[in-house]
Amino acid sequence: MHLIRRNRILRQSPAIRAMVAETILRPADFIAPLFITEGTGVREEISSMQGYYRMSIDNTLHEVKELWSLGIKSVLLFIKCNDELKDNKGTEALNPNGLMQRSIRAIKSAYPDVVVMTDVALDPFSTFGHDGIVEGNEIVNDPTVEVLAQMSVSHAQAGADIVAPSDMMDGRILAIREALEANGHTKTGIMAYSAKYASCFYGPFRDALDSAPGFGDKKTYQMDYANRVEAIKETLMDIEEGADIVMVKPAMAYLDIIREVRNSVDVPVSAYHVSGEYAMIKAAAKMGWLDENKAIIESLTSIKRAGADLIATYFAKDAAKLMA
Ligand code: PBG
Repeated sequence: MHLIRRNRILRQSPAIRAMVAETILRPADFIAPLFITEGTGVREEISSMQGYYRMSIDNTLHEVKELWSLGIKSVLLFIKCNDELKDNKGTEALNPNGLMQRSIRAIKSAYPDVVVMTDVALDPFSTFGHDGIVEGNEIVNDPTVEVLAQMSVSHAQAGADIVAPSDMMDGRILAIREALEANGHTKTGIMAYSAKYASCFYGPFRDALDSAPGFGDKKTYQMDYANRVEAIKETLMDIEEGADIVMVKPAMAYLDIIREVRNSVDVPVSAYHVSGEYAMIKAAAKMGWLDENKAIIESLTSIKRAGADLIATYFAKDAAKLMA
């Protein structure tokens, strides 16, 4: 054969492949989600997320230190609210001494450089496990948005760098931005879960926080996974309303959406590699059907290649260690 172009030339050795690799993961790409629970010395494995733990604040601080030493700059906080504090209106979410607010203060005072992001939604605080206030069988939009805006201000007051509304109510980004401005929080960022789909892949997360919806599902607020154009509409609206970072969630089954959003916006795009995606790799690896380390790096590289600038992933620490 006399070929003019031989594509295998650039694949022939690890050195050449490294030289021409188009997508390079960095630890700073990762956002590490953390599940925080009351108590001291607590480190409980989440049964549906093997190798991932709910921790009390003291252990969370050790974890944050380790993440930082691996080059991971940001954490995304979720708290497990005690049942007796739950109600329909998310009252506990606004408690200045609530678990979330105490966690933010503890992390920012021990590690002021770490970027602390906080989940803003009612589900961990809701007796119904829904992201908003329930009236009859409905998750009502406008009263929920008022609480989300107050919750964001409360997180900012405690020291959060970025609030991350994950609720998918209409108009919440503008309401949050206005509330932050009104309260002098001009340096607080908003990472909007803009294209968040109603997905079965959140199952293990709801176990972690004991936040499964008590009735119905989340399809009246989270997006239909059949839709693509709608993701762009949601994302552009969130940017107009003041979002600093937009998110697509989940990640692996939504790589087309990540790419399309990346091509449509001029802000950083994040993707959430969710609990079910973590659990699938863990389960297959446990069965001996997948090489876990290879599956982690290939998955995260694919999400970045699709267009994600940031990736929220339960594999943040593992991946950073593998990359070191
Ligand atoms: C709730 C919330 C969910 C996740 C992040 N915030 C679950 C849901 O919408 O039911 C999912 C994260 C994951 O599965 O890893 N506001």
